[in-house]
Amino acid sequence: MSETPHPADLIVFGGTGDLSMRKLLPALYHCDRDGLLARETRIIALSRGGLDDADFRGKVDAQVRGSVPVDGPAEQELWQRFLARLHHVTIDVTGEDPTGWTRLGELLAGHEERDRVFYLASPPMTFGPFCRQAHRAGLVTPASRVVLEKPLGRDLASAQAINDEVGAIFHERQIFRIDHYLGKETVQNLLVLRFANAFLEPIWNSLWIDHVQITVAETVGTPGRRGYYDHAGALRDMVQNHLLQLLCLVAMEAPARNDRESIRDEKVKVLQALRPIAGSEVDRFTVRGQYTAGVCGGVPVPGYLDEPDSKPPTEASHRVETFAAIRAEVKNWRWAGVPFYLRTGKRMPYRCSEIVVQFKDVPHSIFPGSAPNRLVLRLQPSEGIRLHIMAKEPGAGEVALKPVPLSLSFADTFTGRVPDAYERLLMDVLAGNPTLFMRRDEVEAAWRWIDPILTEWESQSMLPEPYPAGTPGPAGAHELVGRSGRTWHDEDPS
Ligand code: BG6
Repeated sequence: MSETPHPADLIVFGGTGDLSMRKLLPALYHCDRDGLLARETRIIALSRGGLDDADFRGKVDAQVRGSVPVDGPAEQELWQRFLARLHHVTIDVTGEDPTGWTRLGELLAGHEERDRVFYLASPPMTFGPFCRQAHRAGLVTPASRVVLEKPLGRDLASAQAINDEVGAIFHERQIFRIDHYLGKETVQNLLVLRFANAFLEPIWNSLWIDHVQITVAETVGTPGRRGYYDHAGALRDMVQNHLLQLLCLVAMEAPARNDRESIRDEKVKVLQALRPIAGSEVDRFTVRGQYTAGVCGGVPVPGYLDEPDSKPPTEASHRVETFAAIRAEVKNWRWAGVPFYLRTGKRMPYRCSEIVVQFKDVPHSIFPGSAPNRLVLRLQPSEGIRLHIMAKEPGAGEVALKPVPLSLSFADTFTGRVPDAYERLLMDVLAGNPTLFMRRDEVEAAWRWIDPILTEWESQSMLPEPYPAGTPGPAGAHELVGRSGRTWHDEDPS
């Protein structure tokens, strides 16, 4: 990140939407507060909303102020300074009404020397049309960048089509495909843990590791998201991007450098080494579920089909999975024979994202009751790292063993606010650093592996297995790991 921030125009398409209000604007405010935005930097929201600048500032004041620290006169001043950066332009992405594009052009005219970032916080089918319109309006400068929010398409073919459309206007080095998991502090810490410490590398392979579990469990359901979620499901929404990115970071080889291409090169190799799961194997190695009514966090909640929404459930609602589990394998020398169990679900008993590396047992045990070591990397909440080792329980007589954790809690070790993933990623875009963004070949390699699973699921008449909200997924998920005598690591992080 440069010392003196460079003036920028950040143009957010979908600027009044949920992502913008909940994540982007609060993140930008925090960056502003930390002195990371240049005085001249502007945030220009684009939507169909028919708002003027004052309306938009009022809306942000009403909706965002409560989620960021604005206490006391000094903070009030910072907040007012932030609001003054905001603009709104009503835009028609079909290009039938050019008024908005003309107005945007007027706003940007004379500021060609600034960093210009188009952030597309909108559905993927708008990415191509938006880029074409922006180009036609003469707004894409050689130094412009475009940020694409996930999901990038709904399968390999649509992802390739979007990449082609966007690629016709922007060079690959100008395209930033975002996966906000890569901006999380603990996810970046995974790279540091693996590649800034020598002790793990000799045992980070199939000789020592029995299996790996990657879990992203959420307590939230999908109220009000039916329009999106019915056509996404857990596989597209979470596995294709977030979980596969985590798998890549666990499984990748050490890159030669910490630069924009080396890390991404290594991640692509992992995705390309994933053993395909297709046809009749899909039922053996994957599980899908959908939550029914239950109790989550002590509160009764409705099932997926009864979530409050402006749209009634359709055939697609019955078929969509809110839980997915997969037994994956990385076919290379390091990982041959080591299962990677991936699991994600809505309305699980607690919120917890973690990577569990389960080591093999000692080759010959002289103590009864010994258990294999386990390294738990907790990404959220209560971020930290725990290595479970065997220790002797104090006492005379028979030696009794107990697994005890060697713990590193990030909150206890590092004081200070942990920035949100979007803060880091937005600043990386402004600095032109794409290391934590997905390259075209990476996204497409992920879809190439996911596609046959989707095809098989979508061709089946069977519906996803039901699981009551507040429980850790359907029975099939336990069988998936239980078949080989293993169990999921289920531990309430609170
Ligand atoms: C988003 C998904 O990408 O990630 C959501 O679309 C999910 O469905 C969210 O809830 C989870 O992100 P986090 O940062 O809360 O773990």
